[in-house]
Amino acid sequence: MSETKKRLLTGLQPSGALHIGNYFGALKPFLDIYGEYDSSLMIVDYHALTSLKNPTELNRNILDVAKDYLAIGIDPSKATIFKQSDVPEHTELAWIFDCLVTVPFLMQGHAYKDKVAKGLEANAGLFTYPMLMAADILLYDTEIVPVGEDQRQHIEYTREAASKFNIAFGETFKEPKEQILKGVGVVPGIDGAKMSKSYGNVIPLFGSKDEITKAVMGIVTDSGGDRPENVYAIHALFKNEVELTALYEANKKNYKALKEALIADIEAVIAPMREKRDSLSDEEVKLVIKEGGERARTIASAKMVDVRKKVGVTL
Ligand code: ADP
Ligand code: TRP
Repeated sequence: MSETKKRLLTGLQPSGALHIGNYFGALKPFLDIYGEYDSSLMIVDYHALTSLKNPTELNRNILDVAKDYLAIGIDPSKATIFKQSDVPEHTELAWIFDCLVTVPFLMQGHAYKDKVAKGLEANAGLFTYPMLMAADILLYDTEIVPVGEDQRQHIEYTREAASKFNIAFGETFKEPKEQILKGVGVVPGIDGAKMSKSYGNVIPLFGSKDEITKAVMGIVTDSGGDRPENVYAIHALFKNEVELTALYEANKKNYKALKEALIADIEAVIAPMREKRDSLSDEEVKLVIKEGGERARTIASAKMVDVRKKVGVTL
């Protein structure tokens, strides 16, 4: 991590296989610019624990997400790839933030509100989730956080945590900005709703050709018009508007041909990444995570020395 470049950081939960919404919403925006920054890419495993209680699955997912990062082309010598649980300062700082924000403030959190609205019981980890995310970001003096639209509120909460701390204990944390790119903030799923692991409407990022074909053939096309809107919206991620207009004009009402064209375009992007991914061994990926964790911990522990002193627990 360098002293002079601005810090860029994002993270994904190892809560299931990644999909093209994660790729276009968070990973590609990171990939496109990370070389110009002092960049970190996290696997936020303690966040995933709010929903996943299967140790074998969590363990596998952690390695899988790290492989996904490398397969899309992140160079571990140019970005710190690490897992959250390897840097215990994250949970330590989250506790301090928990003591600064109020219960009514956290009750406005989308993830918590959605759970309660569905009549489900939220665990305390889900309730305080935004403060762990604030710690993830603020420990590293991060300035830019590439995410999808659904994370906007979490970055606002992060700024709030920073400001609360700075007011109470003196200037310590930088307030970060979200980077949400136009057109990819909300990638639609095969049913037209936001693509999400939890809605079962995904096109998997590293799916086999058969899985991708099955997902695309399942895209809901009940528009009845010339153009299948749900197919077009996903296709727009892979082809420019001019090419796309010509293709959809030439294949009016031919939904099958358009879906086949989309499968071919997805394959062209994913096949080389899938090949790279298959070539990675668990052992080399574990080493990348271990080294990244050590680098991240050096920064985080130095920051916490200052934080502990400021809150008054250092003797
Ligand atoms: P999911 O909703 O599938 O569980 P996550 O909450 O793990 O996804 O999101 C990981 C990252 O991917 C976040 O930055 C999030 O904003 C982004 N993301 C997730 N789904 C989409 C989507 N459909 N469109 C754009 N970005 C998305
Ligand atoms: N909450 C994010 C999500 O569900 C994941 C996340 C945790 C994150 N910590 C972060 C994203 C820090 C960016 C920066 O997608």
